[in-house]
Amino acid sequence: MSSGDRLLAWYDRHARDLPWRAGGVGDPYRVWLAEIMLQQTTVPVVIPYYRRFLERWPTLVDLAVADRDEILAMWAGLGYYARAARLHECACMIVRDHAGRFPGTVAELKRLPGIGAYTAGAIAAIAFDQPEAAVDGNVERVVARYLAVDEPAHRLRRSVAKAVSDMIPRHRPGDFAQALMDLGSMVCTPRAPRCGACPLDGDCRARQRGLVDSLPRRSPRKRRPWRQAIAFWLESADGRVMLTKREGQSLLRDMLEVPSTPWRDDAWTLQEAMAHAPRPGNWSLLAGSVAHAFTHLTVTFRIATLRGAAVTGDDRWHAREAFSALALPAMTWKIIDHVDAATRATGENERR
Ligand code: ADE
Repeated sequence: MSSGDRLLAWYDRHARDLPWRAGGVGDPYRVWLAEIMLQQTTVPVVIPYYRRFLERWPTLVDLAVADRDEILAMWAGLGYYARAARLHECACMIVRDHAGRFPGTVAELKRLPGIGAYTAGAIAAIAFDQPEAAVDGNVERVVARYLAVDEPAHRLRRSVAKAVSDMIPRHRPGDFAQALMDLGSMVCTPRAPRCGACPLDGDCRARQRGLVDSLPRRSPRKRRPWRQAIAFWLESADGRVMLTKREGQSLLRDMLEVPSTPWRDDAWTLQEAMAHAPRPGNWSLLAGSVAHAFTHLTVTFRIATLRGAAVTGDDRWHAREAFSALALPAMTWKIIDHVDAATRATGENERR
């Protein structure tokens, strides 16, 4: 039996029961939605979101005509809101340019917003039964071990993609792709892999050579750059807070946030920050700070507050109680929590 067939036989017995695996070849809309949600988020976190999205928007067309802000709000908690915005753009583009039907080749899929090589491979394999490789970190690890590919991290993906292409059985390529994913998540885990339970154990080269713990080769950790900012908590006399929408190409595009200075290497003084404040006034800095780590950098926010402001331009003001219904990024929630804690502390001091 080939290694591909052994893996498929293992999958038939051990596949995870996941809501996007409806049996047989998947509906491209469902496969795509799951794959976008699963980019950098774990299966248990994704499942309830996936179910809610499908209930609210059962078809691609439903999602394409949906309100962007509602999609972002439903996405809150999955992280990387730019992905939710691209999800919507992708749905709109398929309706506009492909008459509402998903294209079925990797080349066409990769031209759609939010779909890179991995996701295109996964959709082509799982939804269209094309013999395509879908290589993410899990698959990279499984194959690097199975074939003892001792490449540095930046070259590994390409070598593994080539090796996987050569392994794909002509029948059931979608199941093969998902079998590799399941093997990586359940058996060939980063630490303490369960080699005794692995269908590829007999001819795993890393196992034969005692390299299981040292493959895939790890790259030296890069230090994340660190940035500094001051966020402006502007509150009206009736307790509403000014939130602004971030524009441009940032990860946080279209998200509501507490306005802030630009993020820079050096700490800001309050005086310097005033040039970026939403309005002049007697701002004061709260004690302490909030740090938030993105994949590529960490930002530390000090928080300046100004209360009792007159409300102008209604749409930018939001009642504190309504925050939970908004699409707010994790970074913004940290700022809100910090202000809430500081407000409770001063409230208690005043009562004493
Ligand atoms: N991770 C990414 N895509 C997946 C899928 N289709 N099944 C399980 N885990 C995944």
